[in-house]
Amino acid sequence: MSHPILVTGAAGGQQGSTGRLVVGLLLAQGISVRAFVHKLDARSDELRRQGAEIAEGDLLNPASVQAALKDVKRAYFTYPVADRLLEATAIFSAMARDAGVELVVNNSQFQGTSEDPLFRDLRHAPSFRNLQHRVADRIFDWAQVGTVHIQAPPYYENVRALVSHSVAAQDTAFLPWGDGDAVIPLAGAEDVARVAATLLVNPGLPPKNVFPLLSETLTVREIFETLGRALGRPIRYVPITDEQWADAVKEHLKPHALDHLSHLWQYFRNSKEQRQATNTIREVTGRNAQTLEEFFRANAQLMAAKGHVGSAKTI
Ligand SMILES: NC(=O)c1ccc[n+]([C@@H]2O[C@H](COP(=O)([O-])OP(=O)(O)OC[C@H]3O[C@@H](n4cnc5c(N)ncnc54)[C@H](OP(=O)(O)O)[C@@H]3O)[C@@H](O)[C@H]2O)c1
Repeated sequence: MSHPILVTGAAGGQQGSTGRLVVGLLLAQGISVRAFVHKLDARSDELRRQGAEIAEGDLLNPASVQAALKDVKRAYFTYPVADRLLEATAIFSAMARDAGVELVVNNSQFQGTSEDPLFRDLRHAPSFRNLQHRVADRIFDWAQVGTVHIQAPPYYENVRALVSHSVAAQDTAFLPWGDGDAVIPLAGAEDVARVAATLLVNPGLPPKNVFPLLSETLTVREIFETLGRALGRPIRYVPITDEQWADAVKEHLKPHALDHLSHLWQYFRNSKEQRQATNTIREVTGRNAQTLEEFFRANAQLMAAKGHVGSAKTI
């Protein structure tokens, strides 16, 4: 009997679209994929066209999760930055256990590295969302469904979303990231997906169950110098207050995401920990991690100068 790999979040969404990337990587290797989508639309049509079996469902609906897990041994779990991660995790892990799943690759979130004293410590989670991830990882562990946790910091795609508009309009990034010396660890969603797909396809079970994935640990100043190099023009970083930032983005971000990111920025701004990039991507995939500069170069078109829009500050 063949066992398709179940990929949740398969249509991709507002964050890194890691599920969609995992589907593409698996299909390219001829692996049979069941793509779990929240709704049928043009994105699911495209996945079907690429060769995926489509399972429409809701991660908060146990019956649809149970149906999607039929004959599945390996699965990728990702849930958007939205309320109810813990319910989705508990439902998925319970149904995976009933189905006899042997490996779940869980798209979790940065929790420091295992050398950090605060690693996975529930009392020191930087945001409520991050606390939810720490608890969700444990729920998966308790369910004993062979879960490995990919723990990445903000994605490069997140930085792109935060600054592309003001960089295109004014060559400027307005963020509450402090005076320029704070270190913001980053990784690319493509590498998250590549690590996940490799773990799902490799024979046997992974040798460890936590994969901290830090590709770059640059200061804010270095991040925007890198962007300037990639775009071939200087990009200014202008620090703003948390309140200014929240005011500027509140119409585009759900309250859950706004709360998480606001706390994360405060955490990185005030963090005294010296973090090193990890070698996880190379160790798992045999390829170097995408650098931030490579990512910015690949996305330069989105931040091409549109001409300056007067002297008003648009964030
Ligand atoms: N963004 C970052 O910088 C970052 C960094 C580290 C870790 N993470 C973690 O990565 C995760 C997000 O991963 P991602 O980038 O793959 O997310 P994404 O791009 O936002 O995609 C989420 C997918 O989940 C689907 N979905 C939403 N609600 C659902 C439900 N109730 N049932 C079934 N499917 C549902 C969405 O479908 P519809 O669009 O049709 O609703 C979408 O396809 C979060 O847990 C986040 O904490 C993110």
